[in-house]
Amino acid sequence: MNYPAILEQIHRDIQPYLGTGRVADYIPELAKIPADRFGMAVVTAAGDVHRIGDADERFSVQSISKLFACTLAFQLIDDELWSRVGREPSGTAFNSLVQLETEQGKPRNPFINAGALVVTDVLCRRFVSAETALVEFMRRLTGERTVDYDLRVAQSELANAHRNRAMAHFIASFGNLEMPAEVVVDAYCRQCAISMSCVELARAALFLCNGGVVPATGERILDSSSTKRLSALMLTCGTYDAAGDFVFRVGLPAKSGVGGGIVAVLPGEMAVCVWSPGLDSNGNSLAGTLALEWLTTHTGQSIF
Ligand code: DON
Repeated sequence: MNYPAILEQIHRDIQPYLGTGRVADYIPELAKIPADRFGMAVVTAAGDVHRIGDADERFSVQSISKLFACTLAFQLIDDELWSRVGREPSGTAFNSLVQLETEQGKPRNPFINAGALVVTDVLCRRFVSAETALVEFMRRLTGERTVDYDLRVAQSELANAHRNRAMAHFIASFGNLEMPAEVVVDAYCRQCAISMSCVELARAALFLCNGGVVPATGERILDSSSTKRLSALMLTCGTYDAAGDFVFRVGLPAKSGVGGGIVAVLPGEMAVCVWSPGLDSNGNSLAGTLALEWLTTHTGQSIF
């Protein structure tokens, strides 16, 4: 596959779309990022790295952290998670509270904010610092010791986290949090504030392309069954209420974040990460989704 030529073509064709969409501004620190940035990286299972544009610039991973937090929770409690979180698409916005009332505080899936708060609760119960555990995990997956969370972004979100606080307290009222709601929200906002580049995120997701084993080190992260399940959740829930349209267009399991990043995987072949901060109305990167659609179109490769 001629990834360098395909990435170059995507980079050329995407130019008119850069700066379109809306940078997330409910987290004030994120509003400062120029909307016209664009980076894309493909890391193959064989270890080849292909990059274009701002692929080495770190950005706020935001909800992409939910993928890796969920991986850690799988490692800790495996199927027990499903007694506390569902695995159905929500069909509502990523920060919606409405279903929690009728569904007794059991979030629809681990990739919406409500579900991620329960996942973070699992990590907070087990680790002295959930965000440090997640940062360490990202360092292990990437081999990059400088990966960290951005305190300014975390504080910026924490100062405006009324909705996530409401959600955590609401879930707690149903008895579905073991740790204090404020502790969980604090850890959650810090883990969302992890900064990574496209190359680092694609590398971190590579175990999902390889049956749960990091190709470079041979380290097993998840068994093949849990790997399948996590990828299936990405497909059905990873891009929120746009998941149907996203998979129709792109055909890959993916996880997005309001920082403008999207990570996607093609099992057996490659992991890809794209970053462009302008978001569509569902909170997914507008140019990023288009670039991934072109990638699967030009390569003729998807999971279908
Ligand atoms: O909790 C929030 O609202 C953000 N920290 C993360 C949301 C997010 O990234 C949704 N993604 N598209």
